[in-house]
Amino acid sequence: MSKKFLYPIFPKDCKSLLSKYLTKEIFEHLKDLKTTNNFTLNMAIASGVDNLDSGIGVYAGDVESYSIFGKLFDPIIQEYHSFSKNDKHKTNLNSDDLKAANPDPLGKYILSTRIRVGRNFANMPLGPAISKEQRDGVEKRASEALNSLDGNLKGTYYPISGMNEEISKKLIADHFLFKAGDRFLESAGLNRDWPSGRGIFHNDEKTFLVWVNEEDQLRIISMQSGGDIKEVFERLTKAISKIEEKIDFSYNDHLGYITSCPTNLGTAMRASVHIKLPNLALDMKRFEEITDKYYLQIRGIHGEHSQSEDGIYDISNKRRLGVTEVQCVQDMYDGVVELIKIEKELEKKL
Ligand code: ADP
Ligand code: ARG
Repeated sequence: MSKKFLYPIFPKDCKSLLSKYLTKEIFEHLKDLKTTNNFTLNMAIASGVDNLDSGIGVYAGDVESYSIFGKLFDPIIQEYHSFSKNDKHKTNLNSDDLKAANPDPLGKYILSTRIRVGRNFANMPLGPAISKEQRDGVEKRASEALNSLDGNLKGTYYPISGMNEEISKKLIADHFLFKAGDRFLESAGLNRDWPSGRGIFHNDEKTFLVWVNEEDQLRIISMQSGGDIKEVFERLTKAISKIEEKIDFSYNDHLGYITSCPTNLGTAMRASVHIKLPNLALDMKRFEEITDKYYLQIRGIHGEHSQSEDGIYDISNKRRLGVTEVQCVQDMYDGVVELIKIEKELEKKL
């Protein structure tokens, strides 16, 4: 007999948006619904129920999840993105519109810049609800499309299955490859059939990379050393349009690009720098006042849920839905200019 699906009780100190918005009433309303891909509320909330330290706690199994379980997803999207259920998303991937001269031409503060977008195939379940056969099909179509790129985007697709452990460890340590076994993804069903269907494509210089079948079916990434944010954005937008010639992605006027985690909806873009701010780091209140002002998020040096090391932080845009891609990068750029200015002032006082 299947286990009865009961209303989850969250401890008082649980801060996830799931615990905030999943009222008993909403639970009763949604608990027996399922999407055409058989994705249920139980599956949507599993990650936040298992991982009580989640910030969000929910994942979608398909685009339909966002409407069928809208009573739960809508307020979460509203709070994270300040975006209401009647708003329309807007996109702008025109790099000419970005005003971002290198804020650190001497390379004293910015170690590297990285911009990524998430993409999922149109008419395909998202990772939490995808079957092994569908996932392997995504890998096949993605690797074929990627292997046909040329110029500075030319590269090779490397499946995780059979990858030498030393090589994968080095790719992870060097910030190029995703980590295996993330517990948030595990509970969301995103690690099923691991490592089948997963892989990474990259060019020789590792300035253009694509993750296949991690949290989203594609994570398209442009990165390089230093602070030339515009060059990184230009390479990314060119790559996106080349890939879009071969693959249709899931998109709608309300939610923009559809992703498995609601935080990534819209642009699905995270534009970040690794930046050294040892003096500002001594005053985290001031640091956070600046990051809040520019809608930025602070992460550690090994990505989400990691710690900072040697005063180096990962600073990125927090807003992704209801703002354009150009605005996401501009948020990060403007904030970084301000952070460097304050760090310089603090240096002078030493
Ligand atoms: P995502 O960016 O896909 O949301 P993570 O935060 O886990 O996921 O970051 C993925 C990897 O990218 C990590 O190894 C992280 O250190 C690396 N990374 C992020 N931003 C930069 C950057 N500006 N320079 C170099 N590596 C970066
Ligand atoms: N599910 C995790 C949480 O709720 C991560 C949320 C945002 N990050 C992400 N990679 N989607 O904390």
